[in-house]
Amino acid sequence: MNFEERIRCNIIKNKVMSAEEAALLIKDGMTIGTSGFVTGGPKAVPLAIAERYKNEKIKLNLYTGAIVGDELDGAFAREGLVNKRIPYQTNKDMRNAINNGSVKFIDMHLSHMPQQIRYGFLGKIDIAIIEATAITEDGGIIPTMSVGNSPTFVNMADKVIVEINTSQPIELEGMHDIYEPKDPPYREPIPISKVSDRIGVPYIPCNPDKIAAVVFSDMKDTTLQLTSINETSKKISDYLIDFLQTEIKHGRLPKTFLPLQSGVGNVANAVLGGFIELKYNNLNLYSEVIQDSVLDLIDADKVEKVSGTALTLSEEGLKRFYTNINKYKEKIILRPQEISNNPEIIRRLGVISINTAIEVDIYGNVNSTHILGTKMMNGIGGSADFTRNAYISIFATPSTAKDDNISCIVPMVSHVDHTEHDVMVVVTEQGLADLRGLSPKERAIAIIKNCAHPDYKDVLMEYYERAIKKHGAVQTPNLLDEAFLWHTRYSNTGSMKI
Ligand code: COA
Repeated sequence: MNFEERIRCNIIKNKVMSAEEAALLIKDGMTIGTSGFVTGGPKAVPLAIAERYKNEKIKLNLYTGAIVGDELDGAFAREGLVNKRIPYQTNKDMRNAINNGSVKFIDMHLSHMPQQIRYGFLGKIDIAIIEATAITEDGGIIPTMSVGNSPTFVNMADKVIVEINTSQPIELEGMHDIYEPKDPPYREPIPISKVSDRIGVPYIPCNPDKIAAVVFSDMKDTTLQLTSINETSKKISDYLIDFLQTEIKHGRLPKTFLPLQSGVGNVANAVLGGFIELKYNNLNLYSEVIQDSVLDLIDADKVEKVSGTALTLSEEGLKRFYTNINKYKEKIILRPQEISNNPEIIRRLGVISINTAIEVDIYGNVNSTHILGTKMMNGIGGSADFTRNAYISIFATPSTAKDDNISCIVPMVSHVDHTEHDVMVVVTEQGLADLRGLSPKERAIAIIKNCAHPDYKDVLMEYYERAIKKHGAVQTPNLLDEAFLWHTRYSNTGSMKI
């Protein structure tokens, strides 16, 4: 490891200390803001904090970009160190702590978080803990595999702990584009009109006096486990690609395509993977996370530019990325989540958004966050940042879950994240419902006929017809005394089937 290359700022060279020493900067009641968006979170310092305070049970507010590793969410949750958690998580121990009431979780649109911190709505940030590739001559922090909320945490925190991860190659420098908008009434248009536009600097500006500790670590990110593309994901991907090609044929999408956004997980990865067989060679992605399928598209020479806030690769993807880092660096820009998920830019660029749902109702409302209307799964993440502002907003889901005992198409969603006003297309392995220009009753028929699983199709249609019989052809026919019977039946019997 070349020390001089990793810390180029002379006045902070004497701030290097162990993770255990840095952990002593943390005090009960503090709010800490950390880097991390699936990848790029600090690791050694959080583990040292969890170890140091495990018997004292101090309480901290933990704010991050989005998902962070088990070294942070898992270790903190297991030691009972978290009072409030914002804005997104997928860790099983953190999820349990949220659902047993010991952690207060605020499920926020990811693009809202940095500005709400600057506006003072979420309290003061005491300490930012940021994973870095290196520190520049002026104290600028070069992030690693994600940017997330780090620029705002660094800007707003009293003190900053930098965890330099020497397992991350120095070549990551230059991949990031850091820009923080001014707040109203001084906000100006964000000057991105093409995915490839760079508008900021390649490091997070930081006054070196604020850096209270620099810790070296070489701990690796936990990689995503992507399963091979299954039949369901492949069918969803085929329906979607067919739909998008038809849109081009009818002149509703330009021949050059529009920038794509795709959510996290296997279905999202499979959908993007499907583009590899198409003839388009100039795809652009304006997305939040960048998964393995994007590397495939770059390798197949299909991609002009990719913008996101995090690289979230499988172990194999990560190896491939490191081996060809300079090639990928030419194509990829990592931005703060306030910019990658910014409604103004998403609408200007005409992004096609593809996200995953837990359940969808017959009128097109989508639940992305709550299991059976009560338990938190992960959070809304960036799905609504993209959906509400997309050129075409798409939700994909298998038509059933839990061995067909749950229908993901239901009479009424048990929690609403995306309303019928925002959702344009629903696709399952059964087919695709194009909801644009349809009234609620037309939407119900399209969703039931095209998307519901055969085991549930007739029962859904019967529900819809009985609702019309009872209320007449009102705007949105529903039977309020039965709308959630499917969910309660599943809770009581283990199946939504009658
Ligand atoms: N009711 C109850 N449980 C359901 C369900 C339903 N309707 N649909 C799925 N599930 C269960 C699955 O069985 C699975 O359970 P398991 O963990 O016990 O196996 C779990 O929920 C996850 O389902 P899966 O099909 O594996 O979904 P996924 O990994 O593709 O994730 C979301 C789907 C919606 C949870 C995930 O995409 C998410 O968190 N979205 C919100 C944030 C987001 O969209 N981010 C991207 C924005 S850029």
